[in-house]
Amino acid sequence: MHVIVLASQKGGAGKTTLAAHIAVAAEAAGDGPAVLIDTDPQGSLSAWWNAREARAPALAPTSIAELPAKLAALASAGYAIAVVDTPPAITEAISAVLRSADLVLIPTRPSPHDLRAVGSTVALARAAGKPFVFAVTQAKPNARLTVQAVAALSEHGAVAPAIVHDRVDYAGSMIDGRTVQETDAKGRSAAEMAELWGFVKARMTKSTKARNGGKESR
Ligand SMILES: Nc1ncnc2c1ncn2[C@@H]1O[C@H](COP(=O)(O)OP(=O)(O)OP(=O)(O)O)[C@@H](O)[C@H]1O
Ligand SMILES: [Mg+2]
Repeated sequence: MHVIVLASQKGGAGKTTLAAHIAVAAEAAGDGPAVLIDTDPQGSLSAWWNAREARAPALAPTSIAELPAKLAALASAGYAIAVVDTPPAITEAISAVLRSADLVLIPTRPSPHDLRAVGSTVALARAAGKPFVFAVTQAKPNARLTVQAVAALSEHGAVAPAIVHDRVDYAGSMIDGRTVQETDAKGRSAAEMAELWGFVKARMTKSTKARNGGKESR
């Protein structure tokens, strides 16, 4: 099982939104079954899942202390992908979760504040010795800020070529337990999520291979 952890010290970057969407995208691409794990005391991901009619991806409640054991159990149960949401700002909690990550996905809004704050999240991923990638989120169309953000983030590490734009369908989908793939399967947001999943999957496979000394594994 591959474990993808969404992390950013900065609040509101899009961790919870992307966690839900990535898990749905993984299922849609045939890379599931995927399971969501909410380690944020705010419980936003769990609230989204509870409002949801579809039962896939699954949600597995756990405490941070029990996370390693829970992940082992989920892997034995046959899950292929675990997507873990984390709280903002609580450094200890984020660090503890990162220890279980195969890949850290760091959503970042293209604003000077967010870009300045990204260093602390990168430092946590580095301290845990985990590979990380960035996704630019909530980007306004054709904004020069987006280009600058990609350039700035590239100095730290790989940036997903799929830019996640600021659209009401992302925000709306969080309210009724769906995702943009489900509200408009042929829309631009759904295409972004499929592309983002393709990138994350490729990176995840690469890092798992490196960890296993060149052999692929689930
Ligand atoms: N691509 C997007 N377009 C429009 N709105 C978005 C997008 N992504 C997220 N949002 C909205 O921005 C807000 C913050 O998103 P989200 O809750 O996913 O961030 P977060 O990083 O999990 O926040 P927190 O740090 O509080 O956990 C939410 O209201 C969400 O609906
Ligand atoms: Mg959140």
